[in-house]
Amino acid sequence: MSSNLHVVILAAGQGKRMRSPLPKVLQPVAGQPLLGHVIGIARSLDPVAVHVVYGHGAEKVKEAFAHQPDLHWALQEQQLGTGHAVQMALPDIPDGAMVLVLLGDAPLMTSDSLRQVLNDANDGLGVLSARVGDAFGYGRIVRAMDGQLERIVEQKDADETELAIHEVNSGVIAAPAQSLRCWLGQVDQGNAQGEFYLTDCVAIARAAGARVSATVAGHADEILGANDRWQLAELERLYQRRQVAALCYDGATVMDPSRVDVRGSVTVDEEVVIDVNTIFEGEVVLGAGVRIGAGCVIRDSQLGPGTRVAPYSVLEGVQTAGDCDIGPFARLRQGTRLGRQTKVGNFVETKKAELGDGSKASHLSYLGDAKIGQQVNIGAGTITCNYDGVNKHLTVIEDGVFVGSDTQLVAPVTVGAGATLGAGTTLTHDAPTDSLTISRVRQTVIEGWQKPVKKS
Ligand code: UD1
Ligand code: CA
Repeated sequence: MSSNLHVVILAAGQGKRMRSPLPKVLQPVAGQPLLGHVIGIARSLDPVAVHVVYGHGAEKVKEAFAHQPDLHWALQEQQLGTGHAVQMALPDIPDGAMVLVLLGDAPLMTSDSLRQVLNDANDGLGVLSARVGDAFGYGRIVRAMDGQLERIVEQKDADETELAIHEVNSGVIAAPAQSLRCWLGQVDQGNAQGEFYLTDCVAIARAAGARVSATVAGHADEILGANDRWQLAELERLYQRRQVAALCYDGATVMDPSRVDVRGSVTVDEEVVIDVNTIFEGEVVLGAGVRIGAGCVIRDSQLGPGTRVAPYSVLEGVQTAGDCDIGPFARLRQGTRLGRQTKVGNFVETKKAELGDGSKASHLSYLGDAKIGQQVNIGAGTITCNYDGVNKHLTVIEDGVFVGSDTQLVAPVTVGAGATLGAGTTLTHDAPTDSLTISRVRQTVIEGWQKPVKKS
């Protein structure tokens, strides 16, 4: 994109109708603040700088984006209108720059539409419009006889003929900085709301002989913002639908597009199948042929080709080499690494646990801070006692070990290759290679034992 592009995002409004202490632009869609989405769209245009005009909830808003130190912040102490808001950022923008104004609460704009608007602005002023069924609340796009954009009239200032127009203003506007400065200088508060309207620049520019044009968005959804929580919920659905469509185009089979949520990014290879009610968070990579069963939550994980996740499993920070089985009802936490032909079955919890190729923990276990070799069998009810109340300790289980059921491994402890641990063992010292280690009270039988009798 033009290397002189400065994007200005208007985010000073309160958003009263959200009924929330959180400033409107911090309300989340797909787990990310509205403003975060808009900043992302702005960045996709490769601008020189992104300016955010902020006001309501000033500190909260700034703090939420502290991890993006390159943002330029322009404080608008009083919300005197969109025109006034843009003026707050202009001192920070050089003449010769191209300015694109976006609204901080509209997260569905596409970079294609914005590029078109910027194109139009090269020789004047460009706005993004949309044709909508219900135009209530929007500024109307008034076109001259020849179809050229003439002016924008706000809902509260419109007469009956204007109210009948179904082409509306998105709030997106682009113009060269120098011209915008000049036009905004002429905007006054002579309107129903007593505000400085950014939209007045259109008529002013046209009167000054500049070319003004409106690009109609490919899809009306693109311009949607959120004023209340119902609109926010609708934005969420529209956004999710887009995410799921992208997954399908990339080759995934999604059993029901309305029952998958992507709160972050998911990359899929071919022949991935995703069953219903799955939530993806953070960055997730699914290799070829990965199958995700119903009701899973998967966060920040990379699943290698052929990984099968059975229903109701929760994964976070997991890496698999591929061709392995997880779940149903498994909980795999940060630092879980699974080799090929491994299995982590129902009611198994893992954390910082590595399982080498062919190793299995099929039922009811806790494996934390564990380095497990290849072809190891972990019996049901096995627990690594990794925490002494102060520090975490490592359990090492070498290749070919058989761990009997209901075994506790009190870390730090090592089980040598090929060893067997008898069921019920509490292992407090290392178990030698290729031998049987067992710690179990010997079974005793008391013949003729009398059961106690209830005292009267
Ligand atoms: C604005 C447009 C309208 C358009 C609509 C699209 C104007 C005058 N009107 O109307 O044509 O159809 O958006 O949704 O531009 N803001 C500030 N400071 C202010 C005022 C607003 O930062 O002083 C921010 C708000 O936080 C919001 C955005 O600008 O993100 C739009 O403001 P809002 O009051 O919602 O404008 P609308 O009346 O909806
Ligand atoms: Ca609005």
